[in-house]
Amino acid sequence: MVKSGKKYTIVGNWKMNPDTLDDAKKIFSAISRRVSKYSKVHKVIAPPAPFITTLAGKKISLCAQDVSSEPRGARTGSISALEVKSAGANFVIIGHSERRAAGDSDEIISKKVSLALAAGLRVILCVGETQRDGHAMYLREVREQIVSVFSVLPDKKSAQWITVAYEPVWAVGGSYENTPKPGDIHEMVIFIKKVVSEILDKKTGLRTPVFYGGSLDSENALTILRDGAVDGLLVGRQSLDPVAFAKIIEHANKLS
Ligand code: PGA
Repeated sequence: MVKSGKKYTIVGNWKMNPDTLDDAKKIFSAISRRVSKYSKVHKVIAPPAPFITTLAGKKISLCAQDVSSEPRGARTGSISALEVKSAGANFVIIGHSERRAAGDSDEIISKKVSLALAAGLRVILCVGETQRDGHAMYLREVREQIVSVFSVLPDKKSAQWITVAYEPVWAVGGSYENTPKPGDIHEMVIFIKKVVSEILDKKTGLRTPVFYGGSLDSENALTILRDGAVDGLLVGRQSLDPVAFAKIIEHANKLS
């Protein structure tokens, strides 16, 4: 097997699952047991926010699934970047297509990113087209999502805390046979780095990690890691299945 020499990051996005803290602890420890030997991979789990504190402090890093676009105050039901950091998360997913569908505009997303960075969180910024067309309009959609965040960063240095996750909306929560081809993902990785280079500089663009997410399972993850030129994966449904998630991490470890 050809090694990439990369240290991959594999993130599990549990979304609004499971129902209880007990189940969350069970799944988390089943995953931990299975993946502790894969030392070449950086493992991250994004559980529902109320479970972060209990799960934090272990070998798997914790990630929040979202943060508020306001720092604090009269925002009943919202959770701030400082709060999730203080609860034990080091990462946060921002701009997930499910949040965009619930009303997050590019402007809101860019506010969330600056608050997350100010709180000392690493940001996983999700971008992706709703559908692919024959005229490459989808590239414009992805470019706008990147520009709206990277062009308003306080300084170039903050870009080092941002990873871009390419998550085509049509592939999120879909069928495992319907993921983009690794070659198409590779193209998007190049495109995303090029857009960041144009906004900031070439070095920053090339250094910006790019993940893929959308209907990953233990089979397609291997080819995407091998041929998609990604630095990591954002896994949804399959991250709640310790066996499947551990298999994905095993692939990443082998390819490292
Ligand atoms: P999925 O979710 O793997 O279940 O498609 C991916 C995501 O939402 O990040």
